Amino acid sequence: MIEQGDGDNDLDIERAASLLRSDALVAFPTETVYGLGCNARSTTAISRLYAVKSRPTNHPVIVHLALDAPIDEWAVRVPDWANVLAQSFWPGPLTLVLPKRPDVLDALTGGHPSIGLRVPAQKVAQALLKSFGDGVAAPSANRFGRVSPTSASAVVAELGDEIDFVLDGGACSLGVESTIVDCTKVSPTILRPGGVTREEIISVLGSAVLVKNADGSTPAPGTLSTHYSPQARVVLTTANELSNSINSESRPDSKGKTHIGLLALADDLKYFDQTNSPEVMILNSPINVKQYARVLYESLRTADTNNLAVVIAVLPPSSGLGEAVCDRLTRATSRANFGLKSEKIIL
Ligand code: TXA
Ligand code: MG
Repeated sequence: MIEQGDGDNDLDIERAASLLRSDALVAFPTETVYGLGCNARSTTAISRLYAVKSRPTNHPVIVHLALDAPIDEWAVRVPDWANVLAQSFWPGPLTLVLPKRPDVLDALTGGHPSIGLRVPAQKVAQALLKSFGDGVAAPSANRFGRVSPTSASAVVAELGDEIDFVLDGGACSLGVESTIVDCTKVSPTILRPGGVTREEIISVLGSAVLVKNADGSTPAPGTLSTHYSPQARVVLTTANELSNSINSESRPDSKGKTHIGLLALADDLKYFDQTNSPEVMILNSPINVKQYARVLYESLRTADTNNLAVVIAVLPPSSGLGEAVCDRLTRATSRANFGLKSEKIIL
């Protein structure tokens, strides 16, 4: 049985930190999603982490650091502009990919010469990192390719019996992962849009920032065009096309049976008539993009727990945080690479 702790309780934080010292796997909250943490200096712990997630070993993981932890214990040749990003957005939802120090374990970086570093803002994460006193390697606490957990109960449902401890810090305030910026080249490239927006990065650097193309033409190790997938098929649409999309997903054999989940900004549902659509369950109707990000993964999970066949999502505007929401929804539409087509994963 997984042991659970309360993120507001100092003894539970100490217990989680001491478990990390003995190579245990500890899930903990961050402001983005829950991470599955282990001692970033232990090859044994890291290999167990990869095995539990079924993560290919060439996909690097992010090392999480306490406030004021020296990044030169992990990275070398940090460009000035990367320091500006760290000063502007740490603690927070930003991961910097930097050339790694030679003594950083290759098992962490998938054999790549760089290391991803992040200083999370969430107070339980910071308390744990401070108590542990060193870097914690932590991918999102889901199986490879699946939806990231944004609550302790989602972690338990996803990885329950295979990990040692989960620290409960409530629901994640942001709901989508950190922005990843490659700082190993002359100028910055956003490898994954996330909690810090492209506009915010440009405003502090005062210069253009490259963004990895949607077709993956400047691919980062471990960033795939297919990811974040629920069991339900995900269909993207616009507010104007919504009723057409619902009609084309409605099946004569399931008249009146709820099999479609709907996720859209409240404004985009203004003309949707629920009383005439018993086949549709509204998963969430967030009032703005920030709330859309916060409920995104939980909505995809709700679709699965209700055994819905399809999720129809109306994309929000793609500026600001909307870029990350659109990115995750687009990746969620494709499940082909994971063999997850219809069979349930046995937890
Ligand atoms: O918000 C987040 O970033 C969450 C929380 C737990 O911090 N973590 C997270 O980790 O999303 P994960 O493992 O699910 O996604 C990390 C991404 C992967 O796509 C990985 O390839 C990329 O970061 N990454 C990590 N280190 C890298 C490196 N050295 N070079 C390029 N990409 C890297
Ligand atoms: Mg992940």
